[in-house]
Amino acid sequence: MKVLLAVGGGIAAYKSAELVRLLMQQGHQVQVVMTRAAEEFVRPLTFAALTGRKVLTNLFAIESAIEHIAVAQEHELLVIAPATADLMAKLAHGLADDFLTTLYLAFTGPVLLAPAMNVNMWQHPATQANLATLVKRGHTIVEPGSGYLACGMSGPGRLADPEIIAAAIERAAHPRRDLEGETVLITAGPTQEPLDPVRYISNRSSGKMGYALADAAAARGARVMLISGPVHLAPPRGVEVVGVRTAAEMRDQVMQHLPGADIVIKAAAVADFHLSKVPDHKVKKTAARISLELDPTPDILAELGRKKGDFLLVGFAAETQNLQQEARRKLESKNCDMVVGNLVGASDLGFESDENEVVLTLRTGETIALPRASKRAIADRIFDEVLNLRLALHAANGR
Ligand code: PMT
Repeated sequence: MKVLLAVGGGIAAYKSAELVRLLMQQGHQVQVVMTRAAEEFVRPLTFAALTGRKVLTNLFAIESAIEHIAVAQEHELLVIAPATADLMAKLAHGLADDFLTTLYLAFTGPVLLAPAMNVNMWQHPATQANLATLVKRGHTIVEPGSGYLACGMSGPGRLADPEIIAAAIERAAHPRRDLEGETVLITAGPTQEPLDPVRYISNRSSGKMGYALADAAAARGARVMLISGPVHLAPPRGVEVVGVRTAAEMRDQVMQHLPGADIVIKAAAVADFHLSKVPDHKVKKTAARISLELDPTPDILAELGRKKGDFLLVGFAAETQNLQQEARRKLESKNCDMVVGNLVGASDLGFESDENEVVLTLRTGETIALPRASKRAIADRIFDEVLNLRLALHAANGR
């Protein structure tokens, strides 16, 4: 594929050299474009040496006055990595004052952005509004990772690993449409169970696993309904998102959207207990110790298992020990077709992380271990196995 790789001016620009190397290895033809700010971080010579092509930089220093149009027409995919806050703002608003931004307006193919910036800049409402505009425009976003940032702060904002960006480019280059015509219902994120008007019980789920599943299903052609607890993630492209807060709200939305679903995946970390009678006013700190009497929340997965008709049901199991036994127990007791088990707690995987490592427990008795990979890659592997399982179950029923 003919890929345009635009490098923005941020400290992560050096990682784009590794991205170029991976893309060349995958057999893509890569043309690098750099902003003036990017040249402050990495010299164009680095990219020219890697690609064997002249790097495009200054709008007014190129051979033809309309070179940005010609370059836009010759290429099939535009990747912007790192996409800085400034670049995202310019693209969202259609400013065109350099080679990259004019090229962007002239380009009609798919666009993929990998943002990278300081955590406060990423979370600023202006950046989030620009992000929403770019998502709405149909661009693919490779979410920034969380961790220690060059500015000394921690949080989301770090450029996704070059391998993750390269995998997203691979998917854009070879789109699979094996979920076309299917409706997939997914739950994601935590639930929040109020204790009073200002406090709640919740958990560490970031929603990343569920959102990755939704993104994967939509990219493979499915109609996707995502019932999401409160998270800080951009809605994946082409996915209908219904926001909920409590387990009870999640249950109602799942049951409302269930008719017509072919595959149901419960990646949400639903609270198991809640306070049935929430006080109308903030609880005062009058006693030295208080006890909470909690009631169970509706078990949505179990209810889906009891209802099960034509849809394939996938549950998740987050366990701190005995993963396989617990996953098998959940599969049987909740009448699932597959349970995706992840060990949480001790490892850096599962909750909040960008990567995961899971074991799939199947109704057929099989187990399949999926080694550590990005949650997006794991999501694709889960759908591969869901489709295989459906074939196996149909074959067994037809016997
Ligand atoms: O969101 P991330 O930060 O990316 O983290 C991903 C994850 C760790 C949350 C995800 O991979 C995961 O494991 N989700 C399920 C977590 C969980 O609640 O596990 P559980 O073993 O408590 O629940 C088992 C299953 O029952 C789950 O499918 C859950 O959605 C479902 N359930 C649980 C309780 C309840 N009241 N209703 C339910 O439907």
